[in-house]
Amino acid sequence: MDDKTERIKKLKQDKNSVILAHYYVPAEVQAIADYVGDSYYLAEVATKVEQQSILFCGVRFMGESAKLLNPHKRVLLPDGEADCPMAHMAAEERIEAVRREYPDVAVVCYVNSDAGLKAHSDVCVTSSNAEKIVRELPNRDIYFIPDEHLGRYIAGRLPEKHFIFNDGFCHVHTEITAEQVKRAKAAHPDAPVLAHPECGGLVVSLADYVGSTAGIIDYAARSEAEEFIICTETGVFYRLQQENPEKRFFPASDAQVCPNMKKITLDRVIQALETGETEVRLDEKLMERAHAPLRRMLELAGK
Ligand code: 13P
Ligand code: SF4
Repeated sequence: MDDKTERIKKLKQDKNSVILAHYYVPAEVQAIADYVGDSYYLAEVATKVEQQSILFCGVRFMGESAKLLNPHKRVLLPDGEADCPMAHMAAEERIEAVRREYPDVAVVCYVNSDAGLKAHSDVCVTSSNAEKIVRELPNRDIYFIPDEHLGRYIAGRLPEKHFIFNDGFCHVHTEITAEQVKRAKAAHPDAPVLAHPECGGLVVSLADYVGSTAGIIDYAARSEAEEFIICTETGVFYRLQQENPEKRFFPASDAQVCPNMKKITLDRVIQALETGETEVRLDEKLMERAHAPLRRMLELAGK
């Protein structure tokens, strides 16, 4: 074990802390985490850990969700500036306007959203459970925020529902183009294309499998193919390669990197454990309101 890993192990014990990490953070951070997964898995794990302090290696909305689900625990972020731009790409006023226009609407909020947007929503979803949850909602009118692309993907699978979209997007996924996917496919004709639903519609239409980061990793492990074209952030390559050393994985482009997830370094992890910074702090009233749709997601997804 190297010095930094030793130090983190000791600090975790001294500070009664557990480390959760998303698949997009750098490999060396995933390697020291107690739990690594997609957004849904990590939200669920956050409700079950015993330690008093959770260090969330991911972007701010993920730490906020852990805090909302554990209001009495301390939730730390290694880098308080690591934020997902899409998490702010919807307007509370517009949500209320849509509610007035469609009185029976369900406001469905992708977890990649700040606590303020969650507080104005009826239920949260992640890419791994959005289709199941929206299908089971009694409402026909669905206002899907903030990601237009995930919203359109789910709408395509649920023609019985009427969707209202919002124009939020993830710059990392929407920058992957159909031309890049076709070029990758020409270079690796036998490789299935595995895409995250935050990708644009054209890329999604070229995919053999569309799903969350955990879904993509799972698909690759079960598939008999030897090569894969991956349309999501390249942090997933660490787990893909670990689980499938004999298989080969290719990104569709060389720019599938989330700059905010890459702010999470081992030095930041050590600093956060040592100093207790940056702690996620949210207003009590906001927490109460934002907690309800997140809790509803866990209930509906677990059914
Ligand atoms: P997952 O829920 O699939 O892990 O995705 C999170 C995310 O930020 C995708 O860009
Ligand atoms: Fe946000 Fe996109 Fe980064 Fe995911 S990959 S955290 S959606 S910016």
